[in-house]
Amino acid sequence: MNKTAVVVLAAGKGARMKSEKAKVLHEIGGKPLLSYVIKASKELGTDKTIVVVGHQSETVKEAFPGKDVVFVEQKEQLGTGHAVMQAENALRGFKGNILILSGDVPLITADTLKGLMGLHVKSRATITVLTAEPEKPYGYGRIIKDAKGDIKKIVEEKDATAAEKKVREINAGIYCVASEFLFKAMRGIKPKNAQKEYYLTDIVGMAVKEKKKAATHKTADFKEVMGINSRLELAEAELIQRTRILNEMMKNGVTIIDPACTYIAQSVKISADTIVFPGSMISGETVIGKGTVIGPGCIISDAKIGDGVNIKAYSVIDKSEIEDGAFIGPMAHVRPESVIKKGAHIGNFVEVKKSKIGEGSKANHLSYIGDATIGKGVNIGAGTITCNYDGVKKHRTVIEDNVFVGSDTQLVAPVRIGEGSLIGAGTTVTEDVPEGSLVLSRVRQLTKEGLAKKYLRRKG
Ligand code: UD1
Ligand code: CA
Repeated sequence: MNKTAVVVLAAGKGARMKSEKAKVLHEIGGKPLLSYVIKASKELGTDKTIVVVGHQSETVKEAFPGKDVVFVEQKEQLGTGHAVMQAENALRGFKGNILILSGDVPLITADTLKGLMGLHVKSRATITVLTAEPEKPYGYGRIIKDAKGDIKKIVEEKDATAAEKKVREINAGIYCVASEFLFKAMRGIKPKNAQKEYYLTDIVGMAVKEKKKAATHKTADFKEVMGINSRLELAEAELIQRTRILNEMMKNGVTIIDPACTYIAQSVKISADTIVFPGSMISGETVIGKGTVIGPGCIISDAKIGDGVNIKAYSVIDKSEIEDGAFIGPMAHVRPESVIKKGAHIGNFVEVKKSKIGEGSKANHLSYIGDATIGKGVNIGAGTITCNYDGVKKHRTVIEDNVFVGSDTQLVAPVRIGEGSLIGAGTTVTEDVPEGSLVLSRVRQLTKEGLAKKYLRRKG
């Protein structure tokens, strides 16, 4: 088998994105465009992957640490041909086929690339171009063929004649080229075109002139090779990628009530029999167990969620762990570094931050629980607040097992409530409480019978 090296072109600015950010770092399915191309190339098990970076090269490199790829720099972005030239040094001594990919063609699959490489080898071609036939070919380079149907050259939209513009077969920007031809041909490219750029596409015409075999491999699915040049195309690709992710999840037994308005990132893992209601966004390294119900409208990122969990409407969970059988929401906010243990309940308008809520414990209504460790079987009454911040530092609250905290309690941290204690409603706890204590701090009630009418009369 011939050796294959991959060169990914990712140096362009992407002017049509109108963005401060390098185009290949724009995301679909929660991941940068370039990551999909690198992933597809890795799946092929090729010998070497070189990524040509230029515009914001440092930021692009930083986004892919330790991804065993070689980065080479294109200092000035003078065109796709010029970009490939920058990889020559890194490929010195390499003999075989070079697969050229575009960093802005993210939906390409390893299967299609295998098809392209297979045809290239089988037909003993010097260059094989991946093509497609979209409904609207506008903006793409067109594949110009001779009477026999063999490729003659590629013409860019901006250089095409009216007749050439009518051709629907387009250049996907993905090629398999024999290494010895590629770098030799590259030196012959001239920036003589509408954009005054060194076009990689010119090497097709050069191969044909030198009577070398040039082939095309047409994919049936244009979606796979669509290039992202604008925000509009980014949104189109997002939809395609999202559909792919959701289809895969549904195939694995996850119920997605309405795929049109459910957003799940590629990196998320969900087990069978979990149901995701519309409007939910699940991202990052989130892992969700089986038989869990999520949404509608939940936002979950980098969370570990167990089996049989119920996350009700409009809850937000970030970098936290929710164990089996827990109930969250509706409208709960679980902030980073929280652990909600088995069967615990976090109800509506409850915010939890950097806290552990023990097994079977409940905070069902309108509470703030920050920097707290709460034991098992604890009941946190409505409106309870941990006063964790003294204006300078954060302090911890510890509530031991089976404590009952009455409604509207303030726990002024640092403070510890001993096991089995009972805190009366409206108490402000400022000192540690030994186990089994009853704590009350409210003012005794004053009732004056009949005084209401007198008071109202005076006002009137
Ligand atoms: C290119 C092709 C076109 C094809 C289309 C497919 C050329 C001349 N044209 O056009 O035939 O139909 O892709 O999507 O090749 N890049 C660099 N350095 C540069 C210029 C570009 O690394 O100096 C990179 C870009 O970051 C991008 C890729 O090359 O990832 C393609 O460049 P782009 O400017 O988007 O080319 P298109 O006009 O789309
Ligand atoms: Ca492009």
